[in-house]
Amino acid sequence: MMNPVECIRRKRDGGILSRPEMEEFVGAYTRGEIPEYQMSAFLMAVYFNGMDSGETLAFTDIMLRSGDVIDLSSIPGRKVDKHSTGGVGDKVSLILAPMVAACGVPVPMISGRGLGHTGGTLDKLESIPGFRTGLSVGEFRQAVGGIGIALAGQTAEIAPADRKMYALRDVTGTIECLPLIAGSIMSKKLAEGIDALVLDVKAGPGAFMPTEGRAIELARLLVDIGERYGKQTLAFITAMDQPLGLAIGNWLEVAESITCLRGKNIPDLMEVTTVLGGAMVFLGRKAGSIEEGMQQCRSAIWSGKAYEKFLHVVERQGGDVALVRAPLEYRPAPQVVDVSAGRTGWITGFDTKRIGMLAVELGAGRKRIDDAVDPRTGIVLEKKLGDRVRAGDLVARLHLTQGANADLLAVELLSSITISDAPVQVGPRVLAVVDAAGVRPWRTPQVH
Ligand code: URA
Repeated sequence: MMNPVECIRRKRDGGILSRPEMEEFVGAYTRGEIPEYQMSAFLMAVYFNGMDSGETLAFTDIMLRSGDVIDLSSIPGRKVDKHSTGGVGDKVSLILAPMVAACGVPVPMISGRGLGHTGGTLDKLESIPGFRTGLSVGEFRQAVGGIGIALAGQTAEIAPADRKMYALRDVTGTIECLPLIAGSIMSKKLAEGIDALVLDVKAGPGAFMPTEGRAIELARLLVDIGERYGKQTLAFITAMDQPLGLAIGNWLEVAESITCLRGKNIPDLMEVTTVLGGAMVFLGRKAGSIEEGMQQCRSAIWSGKAYEKFLHVVERQGGDVALVRAPLEYRPAPQVVDVSAGRTGWITGFDTKRIGMLAVELGAGRKRIDDAVDPRTGIVLEKKLGDRVRAGDLVARLHLTQGANADLLAVELLSSITISDAPVQVGPRVLAVVDAAGVRPWRTPQVH
């Protein structure tokens, strides 16, 4: 019988755990036999001392086998999903999943909740009144077979060890750790019944991986695990040096996604969405290249098919379709406050992590495991990196709860945005692609 304190001590001192030891430790935690405080200590020890590649693979496999693997083999076509390592304003999945499904590639998507300063697709979807993310495995399979898409959360059957640990990591400062992220993401994704996977590994000060080098390291690990399970896996490194798109906060991001599904081009958001979507269409064998897949994704938006598909998912999962059709009817936040530039110049920097934390403070994320999120709260930017502003110009709007201190929060937001005398060169949004063969720089083709 494994002694939990011994396992914690061994990881604390930089030792290695065997697969049976890890299996017992994680299994006992999942069954509620090891308390949260011991798992917290274990996670912190892993945070500081890491895991070797054997431990990481065993950890992922144990999390995967803590639940069921959904069998989608009776559904025709290659099933492809996407997962992001987490960003601020990252609402890509909401646009991408219906867009790719509209191209004929089945998308079985299991998402998570907000984590740390980053948002989660599940919280965003649940901001649509009535939308049910708690699908049973049977309902999930039927939705993928019926309309080619299901957007769900982890049920008790899907990687339950990760479900429990993910919520704990969120509130114990143990997120930013390569093997923990890899195990968390890949156990969920491998349980979905996919044939191939696209990963969005965010790099930059607003991401869990602060540099491109660290993001590439994580991407290689994720691709390696995916390929070992026989799933073709492509990872893109994308920039998180500013929030993606304009909105940060659950319903605000859904509303922005609806405008994009209806054809609005928010350039950074739609670039990342189209590249990842193009890769999914390619891996789904509906296009001969990523670039051709991107063209199909654009057509799915222009033709209205992606938007139609989104309406189908919302309807099928019990969401209020009328509100999706008329998003301005949504119950607004009690206070909406303008934030204006204090000086003239160019926007040269966003403290993206701080902005993500500010959104949490506003009610869009959680500080404790049992906190409720307020779907209406958040931030909508009016300016992005490289934009020119004059003193007094609107830079953002804060959507706040009744008692929130608007003046203080506005100062906090303004001090997270740098305005300088000289403009800045904004770098590419998609930096590199990683596959089984290695890392290549990526250059997004221009649309003609
Ligand atoms: N997304 C996940 O699903 N898990 C992590 O640990 C980080 C991002």
